Amino acid sequence: MKKQIFLLFLVFAWGREDFIDELEYGRKLYENPRGISCQKCHGAKGEGILIATYKSRGKDKKLIAPQINHLSLQTFIEKVNASEGLMPKYYLTDKEIQAIFNFLQSQ
Ligand code: HEC
Repeated sequence: MKKQIFLLFLVFAWGREDFIDELEYGRKLYENPRGISCQKCHGAKGEGILIATYKSRGKDKKLIAPQINHLSLQTFIEKVNASEGLMPKYYLTDKEIQAIFNFLQSQ
Protein backbone atom coordinates (compact mmCIF):
# COMPACT_ATOMS: atom_id res chain seq x y z
CA MET A 1 0.00 0.00 0.00
CA LYS A 2 2.73 2.44 1.02
CA LYS A 3 4.61 1.63 -2.14
CA GLN A 4 1.55 2.53 -4.19
CA ILE A 5 1.21 5.90 -2.49
CA PHE A 6 4.87 6.60 -3.09
CA LEU A 7 4.48 5.71 -6.77
CA LEU A 8 1.47 7.98 -7.01
CA PHE A 9 3.51 10.80 -5.49
CA LEU A 10 6.31 10.20 -7.99
CA VAL A 11 3.91 10.34 -10.92
CA PHE A 12 2.41 13.54 -9.55
CA ALA A 13 5.81 15.17 -9.01
CA TRP A 14 6.86 14.18 -12.49
CA GLY A 15 3.73 15.60 -14.04
CA ARG A 16 4.20 18.81 -12.13
CA GLU A 17 7.77 19.22 -13.33
CA ASP A 18 6.71 18.81 -16.94
CA PHE A 19 4.08 21.44 -16.37
CA ILE A 20 6.63 23.89 -14.99
CA ASP A 21 8.95 23.19 -17.91
CA GLU A 22 6.06 23.91 -20.22
CA LEU A 23 5.45 27.27 -18.51
CA GLU A 24 9.14 28.06 -18.65
CA TYR A 25 9.04 27.33 -22.37
CA GLY A 26 6.06 29.68 -22.70
CA ARG A 27 7.89 32.37 -20.73
CA LYS A 28 10.95 32.13 -22.98
CA LEU A 29 8.80 32.33 -26.10
CA TYR A 30 6.90 35.30 -24.69
CA GLU A 31 10.11 37.11 -23.82
CA ASN A 32 11.91 36.39 -27.05
CA PRO A 33 9.93 34.76 -29.86
CA ARG A 34 11.82 34.78 -33.15
CA GLY A 35 13.92 37.63 -31.78
CA ILE A 36 11.05 40.12 -31.26
CA SER A 37 9.79 40.27 -27.70
CA CYS A 38 6.02 40.28 -27.02
CA GLN A 39 6.97 41.55 -23.61
CA LYS A 40 8.41 44.82 -24.91
CA CYS A 41 5.06 45.84 -26.32
CA HIS A 42 2.52 44.03 -24.12
CA GLY A 43 4.30 44.22 -20.75
CA ALA A 44 5.85 41.53 -18.52
CA LYS A 45 2.50 39.90 -17.74
CA GLY A 46 0.56 40.81 -20.88
CA GLU A 47 -1.11 43.69 -19.05
CA GLY A 48 -0.74 46.06 -22.00
CA ILE A 49 1.47 49.11 -22.40
CA LEU A 50 1.24 52.62 -23.71
CA ILE A 51 4.01 52.46 -26.30
CA ALA A 52 3.98 56.10 -27.37
CA THR A 53 1.97 59.29 -27.53
CA TYR A 54 2.10 61.54 -30.54
CA LYS A 55 0.20 64.31 -32.23
CA SER A 56 -1.65 63.85 -35.48
CA ARG A 57 -3.34 66.85 -37.09
CA GLY A 58 -3.24 68.68 -33.80
CA LYS A 59 -4.85 65.83 -31.86
CA ASP A 60 -3.19 63.79 -29.12
CA LYS A 61 -2.92 60.16 -30.15
CA LYS A 62 -1.86 57.09 -28.20
CA LEU A 63 -0.15 54.01 -29.46
CA ILE A 64 -1.20 51.17 -27.20
CA ALA A 65 -0.29 47.48 -27.18
CA PRO A 66 -3.49 46.09 -25.64
CA GLN A 67 -3.87 43.86 -22.62
CA ILE A 68 -3.65 40.24 -23.81
CA ASN A 69 -3.82 38.14 -20.63
CA HIS A 70 -7.61 38.02 -20.44
CA LEU A 71 -8.43 36.53 -23.85
CA SER A 72 -9.67 33.00 -24.49
CA LEU A 73 -7.14 30.60 -26.02
CA GLN A 74 -9.09 30.55 -29.28
CA THR A 75 -9.13 34.36 -29.59
CA PHE A 76 -5.50 34.55 -28.53
CA ILE A 77 -4.37 32.14 -31.27
CA GLU A 78 -6.51 33.88 -33.89
CA LYS A 79 -5.23 37.34 -33.02
CA VAL A 80 -1.57 36.35 -32.90
CA ASN A 81 -1.93 34.69 -36.31
CA ALA A 82 -3.80 37.66 -37.75
CA SER A 83 -1.38 40.25 -36.35
CA GLU A 84 -2.68 43.05 -38.50
CA GLY A 85 -1.60 46.61 -38.01
CA LEU A 86 1.39 47.42 -35.91
CA MET A 87 2.10 44.05 -34.43
CA PRO A 88 4.75 42.02 -36.21
CA LYS A 89 3.82 38.71 -37.86
CA TYR A 90 5.54 35.81 -36.12
CA TYR A 91 4.61 32.56 -37.85
CA LEU A 92 4.42 30.73 -34.53
CA THR A 93 2.79 27.29 -34.39
CA ASP A 94 -0.45 26.85 -32.44
CA LYS A 95 1.58 24.91 -29.85
CA GLU A 96 3.99 27.80 -29.41
CA ILE A 97 1.14 30.27 -29.10
CA GLN A 98 -0.55 28.00 -26.56
CA ALA A 99 2.68 27.85 -24.51
CA ILE A 100 2.73 31.67 -24.42
CA PHE A 101 -0.96 31.65 -23.50
CA ASN A 102 -0.36 29.20 -20.63
CA PHE A 103 2.52 31.30 -19.35
CA LEU A 104 0.39 34.46 -19.32
CA GLN A 105 -2.41 32.61 -17.50
CA SER A 106 0.08 31.53 -14.83
CA GLN A 107 1.13 35.13 -14.11
C1 HEC B 1 5.80 46.04 -31.83
C2 HEC B 1 4.93 45.84 -30.69
C3 HEC B 1 4.28 44.47 -30.52
C4 HEC B 1 4.89 43.26 -30.37
C5 HEC B 1 6.38 42.97 -30.37
C6 HEC B 1 3.84 42.30 -30.16
N1 HEC B 1 2.62 42.91 -30.22
FE1 HEC B 1 0.80 42.04 -29.97
N2 HEC B 1 -0.10 43.75 -30.49
C7 HEC B 1 0.52 44.98 -30.67
C8 HEC B 1 -0.48 45.99 -31.04
C9 HEC B 1 -0.19 47.48 -31.31
C10 HEC B 1 -1.71 45.33 -31.06
C11 HEC B 1 -3.09 45.94 -31.43
C12 HEC B 1 -3.45 45.56 -32.84
C13 HEC B 1 -2.44 46.07 -33.85
O1 HEC B 1 -2.30 47.28 -34.02
O2 HEC B 1 -1.74 45.22 -34.44
C14 HEC B 1 -1.44 43.93 -30.69
C15 HEC B 1 -2.41 42.95 -30.58
C16 HEC B 1 -2.20 41.70 -30.02
C17 HEC B 1 -3.25 40.76 -29.67
C18 HEC B 1 -4.76 40.98 -29.85
C19 HEC B 1 -5.29 41.72 -28.65
C20 HEC B 1 -6.77 42.04 -28.79
O3 HEC B 1 -7.45 42.07 -27.75
O4 HEC B 1 -7.23 42.24 -29.91
C21 HEC B 1 -2.63 39.65 -29.15
C22 HEC B 1 -3.32 38.39 -28.63
C23 HEC B 1 -1.21 39.90 -29.18
N3 HEC B 1 -0.99 41.16 -29.71
C24 HEC B 1 -0.25 39.01 -28.74
C25 HEC B 1 1.12 39.17 -28.96
C26 HEC B 1 2.10 38.13 -28.75
C27 HEC B 1 1.80 36.74 -28.18
C28 HEC B 1 3.29 38.66 -29.13
C29 HEC B 1 4.63 37.94 -29.22
C30 HEC B 1 4.64 36.70 -30.00
C31 HEC B 1 3.07 40.05 -29.53
N4 HEC B 1 1.73 40.31 -29.44
C32 HEC B 1 4.05 40.94 -29.94
C33 HEC B 1 1.88 45.22 -30.56
C34 HEC B 1 2.85 44.24 -30.44
